[in-house]
Order: sequence, then C-alpha cells, then structure tokens
Amino acid sequence: MAEPDIFVVIGTRPEIIKMAPIIHECRKRGTPHYVLHTGQHYSRKMSQEFFKDLDLAAPDKNLNIGSGSHSTQTAKALVGIEKELIQEKPDVVLVQGDTNAVLSAALAAVKLNIPVAHVEAGLRSYDVRMPEEHNRRLTDHASAYLFAPTENSKRILEDESVWGEIFVTGNTVIDTLESRIPIAQKRFSNSDMNLPDEFALLTLHRAENVDDKEILSGIIEGLLRLETPIIFPAHPRTISRLRAFDMLLKLEDSPKIRIIEPVGYLQFLYLMEEASFIITDSGGLQEEVTAPSLNKQAFVLRTSTERPEAVNSGHVMVVGIDKDVFPKRIKKGLDNPKKRRSCPYGDGTAAIKILDILEKKQK
Ligand code: UD1
Ligand code: UDP
Repeated sequence: MAEPDIFVVIGTRPEIIKMAPIIHECRKRGTPHYVLHTGQHYSRKMSQEFFKDLDLAAPDKNLNIGSGSHSTQTAKALVGIEKELIQEKPDVVLVQGDTNAVLSAALAAVKLNIPVAHVEAGLRSYDVRMPEEHNRRLTDHASAYLFAPTENSKRILEDESVWGEIFVTGNTVIDTLESRIPIAQKRFSNSDMNLPDEFALLTLHRAENVDDKEILSGIIEGLLRLETPIIFPAHPRTISRLRAFDMLLKLEDSPKIRIIEPVGYLQFLYLMEEASFIITDSGGLQEEVTAPSLNKQAFVLRTSTERPEAVNSGHVMVVGIDKDVFPKRIKKGLDNPKKRRSCPYGDGTAAIKILDILEKKQK
C-alpha cells in the first residue's frame, strides 16, 4: 500500500490537541508527514505547552502569522501555506475544525489542486455571527475527504451536497483525552493545585460572548449569582477584553471566581476531572465531557450549539447568556441531572480510521 504524503496544518490550541493523535499515528506507521503551524496561537501557554504535554515534536514550519483581523490572519496564512505546498508537493492537506487556519489551508490547497481532508467535518451551529460557521462551511465545500465525527454530521453534509467523500470516524479529541487522562492523574493532585472540595470549571472565549462589554459583564454577573465557586483559566482574548472593559481587577478580587492563566492540556484534564461540573462556550469541551473517562455535565453559555449529539447524550445543556435566565437553568440542571448515555464521538480510534482511509485512497 502506498503511503500518502500528508501535510498537516494547525493554527490554534484545539487544533494541536485534536491533530495530535493523527501525528502520532503517522509516526507509528512511518507515514511521511509535514506539520505546519500558522502561528495564529503563539503564546507559550496556547501553543508550545501543548506540544510538550502531547509529546509532539516542534512543527516543521511556523509561519508566525500572529493575531490580527480575520482577513489579515487568513490572507497571511494563505500566502505562507501556498509557498510551503509548492515546495513540499504533498498528496493531501489535512485540516481540523473551523479556525481561520483551516480556511486558509483549504483555499491554498484547492487552488493548487491538492486534495483537502477535513477532520471534524459537518458541524453546523446555523449562527451566522460566528466566524467558525463561515470557516467550516467553506472548508467542507472545498474538501475531497470529509471526516464527520457522527452520523448526524454526515447527514448534514449529504443534505448540503458536498462534492467530497464522507466518512464517519468519531472525533479525535476522544483519542487524545482517553490516552492522556491517566498521565494527568499521575502528574497532579488536589493539594498541589489548592483546589476547593467543590468547584465549577469555567472557560469563556467566543468572540460573540467576550467582545461586547454589555454581553460580557452580563455573563460575569450571572456567574457571580451561582452558589458554587468557579475556577476560570481564561483565554488571552478574554483577558484582553476584561482589561479593556475595566473589569479585570474586579474579577481578580472576586472571592467567587478564581481567574488564572490558561493551563496546559494535562493540568486542564485534571481540573475537568476534579470539577463538579463545567461551564463553557468552548467547542472542544462539549465533546470532551462525553468521553467515557470524564463523563461530566457541562452548561454551555451560548444560544446554539453545533454539537447536538452531546445534548442528546445528556452531557450538555445549552443555557444561553441572559444573566436572569442562565443561572436558574444551571441550578435546575444540577438539581435534575439527565441520565448520561455513552459517548457519541467514537471510541478513541478516530485517528486510526482517518489514516486507514487516507492510505486506501492513495493506493
Ligand atoms: C481562535 C478561533 C476559534 C477557536 C479559538 C481556540 C478563529 C476565527 N477563531 O479564536 O474558533 O475556538 O481560537 O482557542 O480562528 N492571543 C494571545 N496569544 C495567543 C493567541 C491569541 O494573546 O497565543 C490573544 C490576542 O489578543 C488575540 C486574541 O487572543 O487578538 C484572539 O486570538 P485569535 O487567534 O484571533 O482568536 P481566538 O479567540 O483565539
Ligand atoms: N484547554 C486547555 N487549557 C485551558 C483551556 C482549555 O488545555 O486552559 C483545552 C480543552 O481541554 C480543549 C481545548 O483546549 O481540548 C479547547 O480549546 P478552546 O476552548 O480554546 O477552543 P474550541 O474548542 O472552542 O475551538
């Protein structure tokens, strides 16, 4: 069987986490691969730390595009990726998720007639305010191979008549989480981290939640009404908005919410495991809570989700962002927890399935 030459593109924290099992599987099989980091995420705690925690070698190339408007980020990465693709001449370009890095790589590849393979294809929030919704739709329609995590996402892609081939593989985040959780358990302890007996773990970074002062202060006000203390590893985007809106100092003084810097993957896994429940607007966390080794309850501070499977499995409840409503919904959810069914995102073998398919296509 011929080995495909795979060009893996990553740009942000979740892409490093979700591509890691594919990169490991390439290494194990001896599949030629090249890893390009666009540099959209660049802070040590958003990038290098994850290579370390996930036992990944440094990327072959980092474009260092950094922060900027959507067009600036997409355009810089598009030009940089094209240059590398012309040099490397891969058989396939592998992208994951819905960030600006994903759209840039998909565009650069199709314009050079190199097939695009999209990991986590077919997710839809139907919320057109979200940059991620634009990126994932455009990428799905530019892809030759679409790796849908579930039958539901496959159906969405079929209904949209994408021209590429669709395969249901599960989500690679389950592969990563299941393989790393035993390491996290050995490495951390409650006393090291000075954790309260009971706490909620919070993440918050979606542009539509944190970029508007009124929305962000409403969310914080609602969170302060909850009974449970909160640990909040805050995304740099959120820190910068809190600072710009003059809200950071007040939050740092709050006895209810402990705001900390973003933490590495292993430490975050430990926090998720120890938390009584999770409050988030993250995409990846909605999947991770369904993993068999975690099996947690998550309340999603959004008005929509592109992960309905996690709602149906009983792990996720979308509670909105209205400060007068979401704290009551969280309380109700905690008082009447739903029965949590098995993980809808696969059995931790998504990376194996994806590489098997790519190898077969290369024959
Ligand atoms: C991006 C993705 C989002 C994903 C998230 C994962 C897009 C459109 N958005 O959002 O889908 O959920 O990554 O975390 O691609 N910053 C730093 N250091 C960093 C990275 C960012 O300080 O390493 C700060 C900068 O102030 C920057 C801001 O965070 O302006 C936003 O970063 P950016 O990459 O543009 O978007 P994210 O909100 O991270
Ligand atoms: N995560 C982490 N440290 C943190 C916060 C999150 O390791 O301080 C991990 C989390 O386990 C998940 C991923 O980062 O796998 C989610 O990334 P993020 O919420 O930034 O992006 P999204 O999934 O919403 O695109």
